[in-house]
Amino acid sequence: MKGLILAGGTGSRLRPITHTGPKQLIPVANKPVLEYAVEDLREAGITDVGVVLGHKGREAIQAFLGDGSEFGVDVTYIVQGNPLGLAHAAGCAREFVGDDDFVMYLGDNLLNRGIGRLVEDFESGDYGASIALQGVDDPGAFGIAEVDEAGEVRRLVEKPDDPPSDLALIGIYVFSPAVFDAIEELEPSWRGELEITDAIQSLLDDGLAVRSHVVESWWKDTGKPGDVLEANRLVLSDIDPASEGTVEDGAETRGRIDTRDGAVVESGAVVRGPVSLGRDVTVKEGAYIGPYTSIGPNSTVADTHVENSVIIGDAEIDASERIVDSLVGSGATIASADDVLPDGQRLVVGANSDLKL
Ligand code: G1P
Repeated sequence: MKGLILAGGTGSRLRPITHTGPKQLIPVANKPVLEYAVEDLREAGITDVGVVLGHKGREAIQAFLGDGSEFGVDVTYIVQGNPLGLAHAAGCAREFVGDDDFVMYLGDNLLNRGIGRLVEDFESGDYGASIALQGVDDPGAFGIAEVDEAGEVRRLVEKPDDPPSDLALIGIYVFSPAVFDAIEELEPSWRGELEITDAIQSLLDDGLAVRSHVVESWWKDTGKPGDVLEANRLVLSDIDPASEGTVEDGAETRGRIDTRDGAVVESGAVVRGPVSLGRDVTVKEGAYIGPYTSIGPNSTVADTHVENSVIIGDAEIDASERIVDSLVGSGATIASADDVLPDGQRLVVGANSDLKL
């Protein structure tokens, strides 16, 4: 079995963060989202991994994953070019996949318990595909499956007006190579994309069986800033913390705190976990880092209260303010303007930023 991670897309809903890097490399608990997908594949015994790249962020993804050896997998890159839909992306990998079955994993998705059961379910019978599903509150926003009592899929529909169930396809699929012929026959949908949901429906129409696997534990698509914060919260809730950094005497720490090499919590700082502090992060006297916060490498926080936030890295924060529920891009500076007139917020804000003051 091979693995296929889709790492294209424009990341439009995560601008301005995605102006400078692909969404798949946004860190959650100080680890890029993409790395969780690679780990899930490797843990399921899949080490031959294709990574489909779009136009945007190609170099950054290749620089991060390299040949995969650092992550225990062997990576082959496939360039999709224009983003014409998930089925188009899968179709670009036909040559890489050859006659093997494969797991397709959307590179901005996070799954709590891995993909072992999904792969086992696919292998338990003669299936054209196996799909991971989860009940959602807004089925009109997803691909939706109708499933019988035995877990066999009967019908699929993308973003239905009249959903046959609340079971959404969550972006992790197992396919037999039969899917490639189905993809070649597809016509673009109303949104101009080749839909993977339509390809799976076409397998059903051709008489192939499709298995479903309902994921009971959490799943997160990190497509929007609130989703990144939520994924960070979920991962930190369960984190097995490392303590490579230093907590000075006189610092107050409580709960699970993951500190990487060179991270320092200085005397007079307060950190309440779960929190992740990346490499060479300094939390200075007077700073308070509250629960569900991840601070990325080489950042410094002084005199500021930060909670339920993701600071991507290389940030300087010294603001005598409370920063909550925030996603802060790499290299950001947040300073105090307390003693400067006229009184007011002084901003240099990237295109498509979203500020609440
Ligand atoms: C895509 C798929 C959809 C699936 C969803 C999961 O939707 O088309 O079937 O339910 O991912 O996140 P998109 O994000 O392209 O709207």
